[in-house]
Amino acid sequence: MKNTTHEIRQKFLDFFKEKGHSILPGDSLIPKNDSTLLFTNAGMNQFKDFFLGKKQKNYSRIATVQNCLRTGGKHNDLENVGYTERHHTFFEMLGNFSFDDYFKKEAIMYAWELLTSKKWFNLDKNKLWISVYENDIETYKIWKNIIKVPIEKIIKIGDKNNIKYNSDNFWQMGNTGPCGPSTEIFYQFKIDYTQTTQELFNNNNCLLEIWNIVFIEFNRISNTEIIPLAKKSIDTGMGLERIASVLQNVNSNYKIDIFQELIKKISYFSNIENLNNISLKIVADHIRAIFFLISEDITPSNEHRGYILRRIIRRTLRHAYKIGINQNFFYKIIPKLIKLINIPSGILKEKEKIIQKILKKEELQFSQTLNKGLKILNQEVKKISNNIISGKTAFYLYDTFGFPIDLTKDICRERGIKIDLDDYNKYKNEQKKQSNIRKKFYKNYNQDIIINDRSVFCGYKKNRIKSLIKYIFVENKAVSSISENQLGIIFLDKTCFYPESGGQIGDIGKLYFKKTCFLVENTQNFGNMIGHIGKVISGTIKEKSTIYCKIDKIHRNSIQLNHSATHLLHAALQKILGNNALQKGSLVSNTHLRFDFSYTKNINFSQIHKIENVINEEIRNNHLIKTKNLNIEEAKRNKAIALFDHKYNNIVRVVFIKDFSIELCGGTHTNRTGKIGIFKIIGQSNVSSGIKRIEALTGQYAINYLHYQDTLIKDISLILKSNNSDIQEKIKNLILKVKNLEKKADQLQNKENTNQIKKLLKKVDNIKNIKLLTHILHKYDQKSVRIIVDQLKKELKNAIIILINKINNSYTINCGVTKNLTHSITAIDIVNIFIKETQGKGGGKKEIAEGGGMNNAKLPIIVKNIKQWITEKLKNNIF
Ligand code: ALA
Repeated sequence: MKNTTHEIRQKFLDFFKEKGHSILPGDSLIPKNDSTLLFTNAGMNQFKDFFLGKKQKNYSRIATVQNCLRTGGKHNDLENVGYTERHHTFFEMLGNFSFDDYFKKEAIMYAWELLTSKKWFNLDKNKLWISVYENDIETYKIWKNIIKVPIEKIIKIGDKNNIKYNSDNFWQMGNTGPCGPSTEIFYQFKIDYTQTTQELFNNNNCLLEIWNIVFIEFNRISNTEIIPLAKKSIDTGMGLERIASVLQNVNSNYKIDIFQELIKKISYFSNIENLNNISLKIVADHIRAIFFLISEDITPSNEHRGYILRRIIRRTLRHAYKIGINQNFFYKIIPKLIKLINIPSGILKEKEKIIQKILKKEELQFSQTLNKGLKILNQEVKKISNNIISGKTAFYLYDTFGFPIDLTKDICRERGIKIDLDDYNKYKNEQKKQSNIRKKFYKNYNQDIIINDRSVFCGYKKNRIKSLIKYIFVENKAVSSISENQLGIIFLDKTCFYPESGGQIGDIGKLYFKKTCFLVENTQNFGNMIGHIGKVISGTIKEKSTIYCKIDKIHRNSIQLNHSATHLLHAALQKILGNNALQKGSLVSNTHLRFDFSYTKNINFSQIHKIENVINEEIRNNHLIKTKNLNIEEAKRNKAIALFDHKYNNIVRVVFIKDFSIELCGGTHTNRTGKIGIFKIIGQSNVSSGIKRIEALTGQYAINYLHYQDTLIKDISLILKSNNSDIQEKIKNLILKVKNLEKKADQLQNKENTNQIKKLLKKVDNIKNIKLLTHILHKYDQKSVRIIVDQLKKELKNAIIILINKINNSYTINCGVTKNLTHSITAIDIVNIFIKETQGKGGGKKEIAEGGGMNNAKLPIIVKNIKQWITEKLKNNIF
């Protein structure tokens, strides 16, 4: 393709280099030392202090390519993404900057030359339109008199709402910071003669803004105050994706080369063929943002940058599901993305696995609640009459299903529905306040609460009972009442809430009476008392009053299935692996079970299947599960399994699953094995020497897991174009084929390497008796570069070898230094010089090191300097 995006980026840098600009690397997406910005949103960010005159720059003319993210603050394009052809969360900004050097006239002339000159972008002058700040007569005259743009193509843009500097042609970095009037260059894709000039300028499909040239003259120090700067500067920004759409003549950023490839890849996993689909575009855009954010070590979380990342991921997933992508897909797309990105492949490879892992986890987590949340939203939409979703619903979706507000907005927008945002913010702020209090509460509540009393547990038989409130604790102090929104611990005379013990997690549910309600989020033992930990959600609860306690039955049932299954597992292990397979620890939760036991040998797959079969058979037998309180001796006579290191009372509770499993246990169980439905082991590992761990699922959770596996196999079959029965054969054949091809490729590569080595040997310089080889290769097989360096070291014996491999706009460097020279010069020193100059990354040792970076334009000068540096060093040393 003519003018690939990568070529355009390079041409921009070449042009400004020719005009005396230093080409510097773009900054990280996370601005350093600037608390006013969450993410880098423009090329000028990293130069803020230079614009403000706080620091002196070594160069007065600079050009960069800057990764930008516009998802919050003053510049936020998130909600436009996909719905316009032009907006992105993540994009690359081409920028040239002048500090107390050239100003308006030159900045405009440079831009015009790059865009229109035959040697450069060669755009038709007649298709360029201009906007200027209304009061900026000087700029207007430059366009009119010097560049000779017809006046009908120059529009003056004033202030909005009569607020000074509140204009599209007055650029501001943020709520504070450098700012100034700007002039923008637009490209005319088409003219709609029914529109006024102003409308044309506002319609990106007619006139597309491609370049913003800002005359930085002011510093905004507050909302109302702007002060002039002592020195004037130039800041410009041209979106790479936009100019690529112009030069590739496609009138949509999403149709440029790099996006088309990405979109095709994504569509492959979807049921969409139309590559213009909004969701496809959104996924393609967001996945780039996600990738770069995680590359910068941001991980999804509920706060700060991590939350922005989570929001983008969740939005992406929603759109992915909309177009029929059902299961984990992020990790399948990342390798393609890496290929399309302009960064040294070595560096990204390192990150690839980490990024995939993080995304897999996040995807799985959210996909489980997405559908439920959507159902709720759909029901709500049916109910409303005024086309406005309440803030309460939006907040419920956020709070319970993890729907970020912009996700809900996005869904509502598709249906022409609005959200009551003020109402939403009210709930959100309240939650924030509460969550801070809660954090403090959970950090501070401890087991030091000592009450000389006893609660009776009635939860084996009952889910709901009437009790008496005996004690209330707030912030570890006994109080006589607890009111709405307060967190605390409530103790009752009797309760059906099971407190966490013996591996079984505590119950959740509620304590209520008339209109008062306390939400129990956890239940714990405090000595002989059972503490209900949670929060009052309505009314005031008083000591010595009556209250109903009611557990969350669904939660408890799931726990019970896992607890009974744990007993079956324990018995099955002893039957299949022997009596030494004894319990060493366990976790029984509502979602899964984990069982640690002593066993020294490896457990193979067929044993796992046997264990599953035995257990599932006992499930199908649908045994009654009975419990009896027995005298300990009697229990022993029944051969009940007990934990050796446990002290038991004289009377013990024994759980019988027919005679298959008889075990001492205080936990709660289901009444028939059949209710477990299905038992599936999902993991087996070593905890420590001689201790194994099995993790398993039961009931619906197990079925979900099997569905997931099923889809995975179907996906694989689809990719392989085979049916389920012959996928193994197909994969084996493929691997064989790949191996053969690799072998052939290796042979060819070896031949090429041998030739390359011959050529390189002719390029070796001699410094005294030491051999120095520096050479730049182009898109050479990276693995081979390492081999060549090793080979050359062996061949030359007394040598320093520096091989650079240029790949598009990035490069890698491999350096080898023979051992006899490493006391004066080391490979890692040399690599460090390269990466320092190009803000790259690398590592290695004295004799061998490698790295990589961007900014290839700097390579010739670094190579030249490094040769000099090595020569000096070697001259001063005697070898
Ligand atoms: N800083 C200016 C912008 O981002 C050039 O548009």
